[in-house]
Amino acid sequence: LNDIDKKYLLDSIRDVKDFPKPGIVFKDITTLLNNKDAYKFLIDHLEQRYKSYDLDYIAGIDSRGFIFGAALADRLGIGFVPIRKVGKLPAATVCEKYELEYGFDQIEIHLDAFPKKDARVLVIDDLIATGGTANAAAKLVKDINANLVEMCFLIHLTFLDGAEKLKEHAPVYSVLEI
Ligand code: PRP
Ligand code: ADE
Repeated sequence: LNDIDKKYLLDSIRDVKDFPKPGIVFKDITTLLNNKDAYKFLIDHLEQRYKSYDLDYIAGIDSRGFIFGAALADRLGIGFVPIRKVGKLPAATVCEKYELEYGFDQIEIHLDAFPKKDARVLVIDDLIATGGTANAAAKLVKDINANLVEMCFLIHLTFLDGAEKLKEHAPVYSVLEI
């Protein structure tokens, strides 16, 4: 994307100060999602990028990764796999614990999430901050023997350098760097 395209997408995302805690500037993507032109522009871009990657599945991270991941999977004509916060998936899972700013959280994937052997998988989320969530998601995909082809984010908060810890797993692509 050129700088004008990036500015267009960036301008469709709203900053909400002091959410969920004082001092945090929250990147609110709901204003991109309810803008049909901006949402389509983003999914068009991701479709163009990934149509030649020969992917088998998109794995989206709970919860905002579902919104972009499911739309992209439909465009590419491939399956969608949810990576969920702990306790939400009904069948047998594998789980990863990861560190948050305060304390820990866990995410899970179904053990049989990728029925195709040696599946080629793209992990997607709306945003990477510390990288803790995405790092745990990458481990889950590898734990169940899929090929993690790339990790994709709409927004990378570069001052937190979260992409650094993902490099050992797969290439990282972010549409917007802030
Ligand atoms: C946000 C965001 C990422 C994660 C990034 O999700 O959608 O998944 O935080 O932070 P990190 O890089 O520091 O791990 P959140 O945990 O707020 O969950 P939600 O999508 O359900 O709101
Ligand atoms: N997840 C972690 N940090 C965030 C931020 N600043 N905006 C939106 N989602 C986030």
